[in-house]
Amino acid sequence: MKLALGTVQLGLNYGISNPGGRTPLDEAGRVLDAARAAGMELLDTAALYGEAETVLGLLANGPEFRVVTKTCRFGKHRILATDAAALRQTLLRSLARLRREAVEGLLVHHAPDLLAPGGEALFAEMQRLREEGRVRKIGVSVYTPEEAEQVLARFAVQLIQVPCSVFDQRLLGGGQLRDLALRGVEIHARSAFLQGLLLMEPAALPPYFEKIRPALEALRAAARTAGTDVLGLCLGFVQRLPEVHAVVCGVTRAAELSELVERGRAAPQLPDLRALAQSDTAILDPSRWPPRALR
Ligand SMILES: NC(=O)c1ccc[n+]([C@@H]2O[C@H](COP(=O)([O-])OP(=O)(O)OC[C@H]3O[C@@H](n4cnc5c(N)ncnc54)[C@H](OP(=O)(O)O)[C@@H]3O)[C@@H](O)[C@H]2O)c1
Repeated sequence: MKLALGTVQLGLNYGISNPGGRTPLDEAGRVLDAARAAGMELLDTAALYGEAETVLGLLANGPEFRVVTKTCRFGKHRILATDAAALRQTLLRSLARLRREAVEGLLVHHAPDLLAPGGEALFAEMQRLREEGRVRKIGVSVYTPEEAEQVLARFAVQLIQVPCSVFDQRLLGGGQLRDLALRGVEIHARSAFLQGLLLMEPAALPPYFEKIRPALEALRAAARTAGTDVLGLCLGFVQRLPEVHAVVCGVTRAAELSELVERGRAAPQLPDLRALAQSDTAILDPSRWPPRALR
């Protein structure tokens, strides 16, 4: 099963199309039950996702799930030895909250932290945590192809999380996904629905996104041609990529996850979707969306 569960929605108010905010605990239990029933194994979380790790510790600390978590964010011009110590403390706290001895993966949440002068100290600390058996694989989460290239040039990462969708084909077009796979790096793709934006009715788009309305309408037309819906097309596109090990999808309700599992199993014949690729990073990178854009 390539489908993996993203858990930011279980710990924070998150998502452009999520008026309901953070998923309540009882519904989180149903989401994880649906994941278990579907044979999903991978949970993506982070120390910065509010209560998400604690929720997983309560509801999903068994061997049926493998967990990938992420480091704290430094955002500094220079990384110091004390930052490496803070990274270790954050991981130990994550393990305590997750009620686990070890995690499947630890990703640097903010790639510029690794690339900053002194970033080697963070990677060395992660290697020590791996040697101690607290982490099985170490790596990074990126927002851009450039970050992926710069990290790969300096660090022997085993695991990487990248944004990828029908609209965001940057790492495909640029060949980074192929290079990563050739180097044996395990690839987790997120944002197949661009935080839910791709699933929105074109007529319901907030003004900030008006410029992609024609592309969203073209996406819907392509889905109809393929005999599926936008959910099936978007998931199928990323799931189909041979380089991708896991497709990390966020949901706010168990019903959404069951639908994803069903679509994931359908695997419709997909047309060539390269023409739907967008290049405007003001749209492709949710971290650049101005808060008011979401209303
Ligand atoms: N820097 C990083 O490392 C980073 C950044 C972002 C995300 N992530 C990870 O990636 C995960 C996914 O987040 P994402 O931003 O990439 O989101 P995404 O998977 O592209 O989209 C998630 C949104 O899609 C909607 N959705 C999902 N299934 C649906 C269904 N069956 N029917 C209708 N709508 C459905 C939900 O929107 P509604 O809210 O409308 O229900 C959900 O909030 C996160 O949980 C997190 O683990 C990591």
